[in-house]
Order: sequence, then structure tokens, then C-alpha cells
Amino acid sequence: MTDADTKKYSLEPPEVARNPHDTYRELRDNAPVTELGGRSQSGAITLSRHEDVMRAFQTPEVFSSDPDAVEIGNTRPLVPLQIDPPHHRKHRKALDPLFAPKQMAKHEPRVRELIRELINKVADQGHCNFHQSIAEPLPSTIFLELLGLPVSRVDEFLALKDGIIRPPARSMEERREKVRATGQKIYAALEEVVDARMAERQDDFLSTILDAEVDGQPLSRDDVVDIGYLFFLAGLDTVSASLECMVAFLAQNPDHRQRLVDEPEMIPHAVEEMLRYESPVASSARITAVDTEVNGCPISAGTRIHLLIGSANTDERSWPDPDDVDFDRESKKHIAFGAGVHRCLGSHLARMELRVALEEWHARVPHYRLADGIELEFSQGIRQIDNLELVW
Ligand code: HEM
Repeated sequence: MTDADTKKYSLEPPEVARNPHDTYRELRDNAPVTELGGRSQSGAITLSRHEDVMRAFQTPEVFSSDPDAVEIGNTRPLVPLQIDPPHHRKHRKALDPLFAPKQMAKHEPRVRELIRELINKVADQGHCNFHQSIAEPLPSTIFLELLGLPVSRVDEFLALKDGIIRPPARSMEERREKVRATGQKIYAALEEVVDARMAERQDDFLSTILDAEVDGQPLSRDDVVDIGYLFFLAGLDTVSASLECMVAFLAQNPDHRQRLVDEPEMIPHAVEEMLRYESPVASSARITAVDTEVNGCPISAGTRIHLLIGSANTDERSWPDPDDVDFDRESKKHIAFGAGVHRCLGSHLARMELRVALEEWHARVPHYRLADGIELEFSQGIRQIDNLELVW
């Protein structure tokens, strides 16, 4: 790769964010190890081939999750995402049982009840902004209820989460400042609730985590706040963005949509295939712990790395006909939930919510399309679509 080639590619233009697959392919073919152009990427090296992304996910001793990998407003490492092995394992051992499939299944009736309520509000009006009416309120209400944060403050929490994930900023410096200030507010909100739970336990995840042990010791107040901070970012945004990506795809692909209406039992397969193709969490961050090389390109220790999940999930070197969205596809080994030790803790919750939401939506609103004249606007990184205007 010559100097002239660096920063040639960007995922930031709206038309690329809407349909990143051509750029993903060009990156894999021409610049599999490169610095992308655009405001948010400065200095980071992006890996786009499946093999390279997998190697990075699977070698945390080289590609570390140290907090320096990404700026998300925290002053202590997020637990467990920014803890490298071997300590990471102990935290996952404490947290995994909370998010196990059997535990998540207990929450399915509540998810179904809430999605029905939300659909009832819009079904007869013939149109809605799907982001505002369904995709944002569903997972955030469920998650705040599970975690034990006050649902009455949902708007404030969503604004804080957006202040970290997609802060409105004209420069990197402004972005950094906004993210730092928002981080302090998130700490304050979590400390308030954790202190209340330390005084009196409730039937919620924060209370359960306060009673969890790592190495035979109870977790400290800071540990619980640091877990809460990560949950806050991971739990409030990812399922909304995933549901939006899926419904946007189905609104534009009537044959795929009709199949789900006719064969609702296909929905779990469709969820996996659309997670692969859309990759709503488009990338993960790492920082190199030692000097290394990828595909013959030397990379020094301390370099920020973006693992382009969306590109890895559509790499023709690993997937037959990767651009065909095939609900009958046999391999489900996509990495939309990451891979290796940090693979998503919330995947069972996410899958259940997505399945139930698609089942209920298609039972009630089977025929829908994008409103006339809408050019979908996808946000960077986690692919939220604020202007998902539907008509039926
Ligand atoms: C469809 C929705 C979701 C997607 C696509 C998704 C995606 C991901 C990805 C790609 C990672 C790996 C990050 C990395 O290695 O850098 C991850 C990790 C994680 N996710 Fe999710 N996620 C989703 C939903 C959730 C939910 C609902 C929660 C709720 C708690 C959650 C909690 C976490 C946590 C705690 C980690 C870090 C795990 C660790 O470090 O061991 N995720 N997720």
C-alpha cells in the first residue's frame, strides 16, 4: 500500500453508510490493511478480510481490548470488554449465567406484551417512524427494566448513550470533549442507582451483580458501575439498530418479507442471515499490544485497530455468494456478535427480542414499504436509522 493509497476509502459518505458492501469489497480486494478516510477514523488501521479480523479477535495478547483502543468517555476499564485474559474469564464466569438462554426465555412474555402495546399505537394509522415508535422504545424499556434503572428516565438515558456513540461534533477535539462530559454524567447516573441497590436490593440485574463474586470476593462498587457503563452502551443501542437494519431490508425486499409472513418459523434463520449481511455493529476496536504484521503489513505496538465485522461477514473468501441474503443459508457462523473471548454477552437476549419483534410486527403489519422519497440515513459504527419512515 503506497502513501497515495492511504485514506482513499471512507465509510462515512451517506451513500456508503447506506450500502457499504461495495466499499467493503474494494477494501478486501485492494486495501485489506489500511487507514480509512473520514473524521472519526484518524490513525486507526482497518482490517477488512474475514481471516484477519478473526485472527485479531482470537489473539487478545496481540490485539488488546485495553481502554486506549477506543474513546467512549470512561475513566476506568469497562468490565468485561476492556479487560484482557486471564482476568476477563473470571468476570464472564460471574456474568454469563445472568444472560443464559433459559434466563432470557423467562423475559419473552414481557417482550411480547410490550411490542404488542407499541404496535397497537401505530397499526391503524398506516405509517410510522419505525425507529421512534418501535425499535428504540422496545429494547431500551426492556433493558432498563432488567438492569434496574428507572424506565421513567429513558429519554435522558438514550440521550446519554447517543452522546457517547454518535455525539454531534465538527472536530475530533469537540467529539472527545463531548464524550468525556457525557461519560461523567453516565457515571453519576449509575452511581446513584448502584448506591440505592447497595442499601436495598431489588429484583434486578444490578442487585444480582452486587451479590456476584469474582475469585471468591464480592465485586466492588466501582466494578458494578463499570459493568453498568458497558451494559448501558451495549444494551440500549445494539438491538434497536439491528431491528432497524432488518426492517429497512425487509421494507425494500418484498419477497424476503413475504416469506416471513408466510413462514414465520423462518424468522430465527432470517434474524441470523440479516445479522450477517447487515452487521448492525459494523466494527470493533482493538489496540496492538506488541509489534505485529497483518497480510505482510507491519503494524507497531500501540496502533488502534478497527475490525470491520460487516466486511468480514461478507468476505467471498469465507462465504459462498455473500451478497445473496439467503434465509436458508446453512452456515450461521457470522461474527455479528464478535468472536473469541469477548463474544457478545447479550446475544441470547438480542436474538429473543429480534425474533419476537419480527413475529409480532409481521403478524399485524405484513405489507409495508419505505415512505416515498426517503433516503435512509445510517449512523456510523452502530448502524441506527433515525429516519426509518414506513407506510402500509
Ligand atoms: C443484536 C444486538 C447486538 C449486537 C449485534 C452485539 C454485538 C456485539 C459485539 C460485536 C461484541 C464484541 C465486541 C468486541 O469484541 O470488541 C459485543 C460484546 C458485548 N456485548 Fe453485545 N451486541 C448486541 C446486543 C447486546 C446486548 C443486548 C447486550 C446486553 C447486555 C450486550 C452486551 C455485550 C457485552 C457485555 C459485551 C462484551 C463482552 C465481553 O467483553 O466479554 N450486547 N456485542
